[in-house]
Amino acid sequence: MPATPYRLRPADTGDIQEIAVMSRCLIEVGLRGWTWHPARVARALRARETCVLVADVRGRIAGFAITEFGDTRAHLSLFAVKPVYQRRGIGMAMIEWLVESTLTAGIDHFTVEMRANNFAARSFYEALGFRQQQYIAGYYQNVEPAIRMRRDLQQQAAARESNKTV
Ligand SMILES: CC(C)(COP(=O)(O)OP(=O)(O)OC[C@H]1O[C@@H](n2cnc3c(N)ncnc32)[C@H](O)[C@@H]1OP(=O)(O)O)[C@@H](O)C(=O)NCCC(=O)NCCS
Repeated sequence: MPATPYRLRPADTGDIQEIAVMSRCLIEVGLRGWTWHPARVARALRARETCVLVADVRGRIAGFAITEFGDTRAHLSLFAVKPVYQRRGIGMAMIEWLVESTLTAGIDHFTVEMRANNFAARSFYEALGFRQQQYIAGYYQNVEPAIRMRRDLQQQAAARESNKTV
């Protein structure tokens, strides 16, 4: 697969509609209703503790990630790469950018939930060092189960600290 030139940037208001549509088509597909509608994405964009990151390919959105930063936990709320751009390392680059920000903020772990039958996403997160933490029955609309995965960052944080002191 040829390398795709992309840049990671914070989302702006011009991205709201496309992010919401991507959520409906790539993440919420098959669920009743549309929970990440444009107004909700706009709220996420304004929230101080939330980062909305976009992978931009020549001015078009290839992928996006919405992450909430707490005191000890960063939580990936919504994340997708358009099918045409998948398997080119864009998803991995976005997560690594977010992990770097999480480490800088002194947060010690990262969590994410996905449908239990989303084996592609489960393989993706496993490849990135996330481990299965919990099976949650009825998580999506009281019908579909979810898997919660977690990546601990303490070791990475410690390694980073010891590099600083050398
Ligand atoms: C999950 C998703 C974000 C991955 O994005 P991506 O840009 O294609 O991922 P990358 O190219 O960075 O993949 C990195 C590694 O993850 C693993 N991986 C990614 N997609 C995979 C798949 N479909 N099946 C198996 N492993 C996969 C591979 O190890 C891959 O490395 P490789 O291509 O060298 O084998 C993307 O498939 C997607 O948007 N899916 C639909 C929405 C979704 O499920 N979102 C996540 C819900 S929380």
